[in-house]
Amino acid sequence: MDYAPFHQRRRLLLEQIQKAGGGVAVIPTSPEHVRNRDTTFPYRADSYFHYLTGFPEPEAILVLIAGSTPQAILFCRDKDVEKEIWDGFRYGPEGAKEAFGFDAAHSIKEFDTKLAELLADQPALWYSLGHDAAWDTRMAAALNAVRAQSRAGKRAPPLIHDVRATLDEMRLVKDSHEIALMRKAAQIAGAAHRRAMQFTAPGKYEHEVEAEFLHEFRRQGSQAPSYSPIVAGGANACVLHYVDNNRLLKDGDLLLIDAGCEVDGYASDITRTFPVNGRFSGPQADVYDLVLDAQTAAIAATQPGATFIAPHDAAVRVLAQGLIDMKLLEGSLDGVIEAGAYKRFYMHRTGHWLGLDVHDAGEYRHGAGDDDWRKLVPGMTLTVEPGCYIRPAEDVREVFWNIGVRIEDDVLVTAEGCEILTANTPKTIADIEAIMAK
Ligand code: GLY
Ligand code: MN
Ligand code: MN
Repeated sequence: MDYAPFHQRRRLLLEQIQKAGGGVAVIPTSPEHVRNRDTTFPYRADSYFHYLTGFPEPEAILVLIAGSTPQAILFCRDKDVEKEIWDGFRYGPEGAKEAFGFDAAHSIKEFDTKLAELLADQPALWYSLGHDAAWDTRMAAALNAVRAQSRAGKRAPPLIHDVRATLDEMRLVKDSHEIALMRKAAQIAGAAHRRAMQFTAPGKYEHEVEAEFLHEFRRQGSQAPSYSPIVAGGANACVLHYVDNNRLLKDGDLLLIDAGCEVDGYASDITRTFPVNGRFSGPQADVYDLVLDAQTAAIAATQPGATFIAPHDAAVRVLAQGLIDMKLLEGSLDGVIEAGAYKRFYMHRTGHWLGLDVHDAGEYRHGAGDDDWRKLVPGMTLTVEPGCYIRPAEDVREVFWNIGVRIEDDVLVTAEGCEILTANTPKTIADIEAIMAK
C-alpha cells in the first residue's frame, strides 16, 4: 500500500484547518448496509474517508488534530481471530498504523471516550453535521461530555466547521494519483462499451448487453459499476434514468448505454448511443450528428478560465439551432434559448464533476447570480454529455419518434484546454458502424 498520496492529502487538510484557526476534525467512514436479513450490500468506504486514508474497512474513523505537531489518528476494529476466519483479514489498530502511516491508531471501542479527551480546550470541531443522524447524536454526546467537565476547567470547542466544505474544494482538483485511477476507470469502461457494440444485435436482451459490461469491468480489475448501468433500447432511451434493462432489442432501434466503472474508488461515466442492427437510419443519423456537434462544441469550450456552464451554453446553442433546422422547434435561435423551448428535447445539464463520486463533490457556483459560475482550472475532471430525447407527439414528425441520443465523455481540464479521458470509445457514426460490422 502506497499511502503517500493519502498522507499528503491529510497534510494539506491539516494546513487548511490550522490556517482557519485550528481544531479537531472527525471523519467517519460509511457503515455496512443490510440488503436483506443477514446479507449486506457490497461494502464501499465513504468517499471523504477514503480520500484521506485509503483504509478499506467499515467501523473506522479518522481524527485529525491541527497544531504545531499535527496528528492523524485512526480508530478501527480490533483484530479478531474468530471473525477473521469467517469474514477475512482485519488490520487492527497496530497493523493499520503501520500500513497506512497514521501517527496513532486505537480500537474503535475507545473512540467516544478518547474523542471527549481530544476535543477538550480545542478551538473548533471540524465535522459535517446533518448527513447522518446517529453520528450527529454521537458528536453531540462527545461535546456534552466535555461541557460536563467545565468545573474541572475543560472547555468544549466553541465553533463547529463543516469539514466537508473544505474537503470538497480539495477534491475538485485532482492530484496525479487520482488522475491515474480515473484514466484507468475510463479506459476499462471504454473497453466495455466497445465490447457491447460488438455484441449487440437484434434479438438480444438489454440485460445480456449489461452483462457484457459487468464482465469486462470485473475482468479488468474494476471493483464495481460506478452507478447502475442504463441499457435502454428504443423508446427506453427517452427515460433518462431507465435501469430496468430487461427488454428485447429490436431491429431498427437505437440503443443508449450509460455505464461506467469504479477503480479504487474513482468513477468513469460514459454514454454511447448506437443502432441495434449496426447501421444508423437517416433520421437517427441526423439526431446523432446534431448531438455529436453539440458535444464537440462543449468540449471545445472546456478549458481553463472558462466557467463551468460555458460547455453547457455551447451545447445548447448547437442543439437549439439543429432542432430549429429539423423543424422540431420554431422561432429564432435566441428566442428558443431564452424561452427554454429546447428543454422539451434536452432537459438536463451538459456535465457534472466526476471523481470518487460519479456526481462528484464540489460547488458549481460561488453565488446565485448568472456570473457566479466557478471557473475551470487544470486538474478538474468533469463529464460532457449533451443529449436529445424525442418522445412521440402530434407536432413531431413520426420519423423522429422515440429517438433518444446521449454522448458522454469524461474530460480532464489541462493547461491548454482539456484531455478526453474516454477517447478510446468509438463515437463518430463511421467508427461505430465500423466496430459493429466486425
Ligand atoms: N450516469 C449518470 C450521469 O450521467 O450523470
Ligand atoms: Mn454523467
Ligand atoms: Mn452517465
